[in-house]
Amino acid sequence: MDRDDFREALLAVMEQKHHWAWAAFTSGRVARDRLHLHFEQEYATYVRDFPVLLGRAYIQCPVAAARRELAANLYEEETGGLAAGRPHPELFLEYPRGLGMDLARFEAIALLPAAQAWRGLLDAHTQAHGWAVAAAVTTIFLEGTPYERGELDPGALRRPEPPLTEHPLVRHYQLPVEALALTKAHRQVEGSHRASAWRILLDHVAAGERAAVVAAMQAQLAAWRAYRDDVAAACGVAPE
Ligand SMILES: [Fe+2]
Repeated sequence: MDRDDFREALLAVMEQKHHWAWAAFTSGRVARDRLHLHFEQEYATYVRDFPVLLGRAYIQCPVAAARRELAANLYEEETGGLAAGRPHPELFLEYPRGLGMDLARFEAIALLPAAQAWRGLLDAHTQAHGWAVAAAVTTIFLEGTPYERGELDPGALRRPEPPLTEHPLVRHYQLPVEALALTKAHRQVEGSHRASAWRILLDHVAAGERAAVVAAMQAQLAAWRAYRDDVAAACGVAPE
């Protein structure tokens, strides 16, 4: 697989990182008393352990230039030392805290069946398939959005960044704007994390490893969709 085909195949996966129920979460249709399930499942599948998942890519990577990029991202995620000021997993908890949720729930989360399966695949892909798969799954699949093309191509649609006061949690669930600390931090650092992720993948993954990376990304997409189906059902959102 050549570099351009690799780039297109990765972008094609990310452009499908949509879920039918997302509109219910962003339009206030999810009942307030079920919303905690969404935050708990997100936290326990990948948010809490994101620095560890990323660290697994780092420790397996033999390419020093790629390792440096992973280390910078890891340092920010684990400590907030470059931009956010606090560890990103901690900042995530400001959402449920700001919504008045019981944070004790976040200490012992039971994963839904498809959440458990997705987490299992994240563990497998970050531990047992080499550094390139681990880096793709963490820096592209987990951190990326359906707008990855806009990170690479100045003519493509960019990640929308509406004012924080228009954030769905503020508009529909009365979240105080200050609780969007993680959203704010991501807007500060995400441009550089996106650029770094694409450099790592496109400049450093050997041609012979590219097909396995694409296959892992496709498997992530399928497992993530099933996970979001389970969260939607738990939150009382049915397909229209
Ligand atoms: Fe982050």
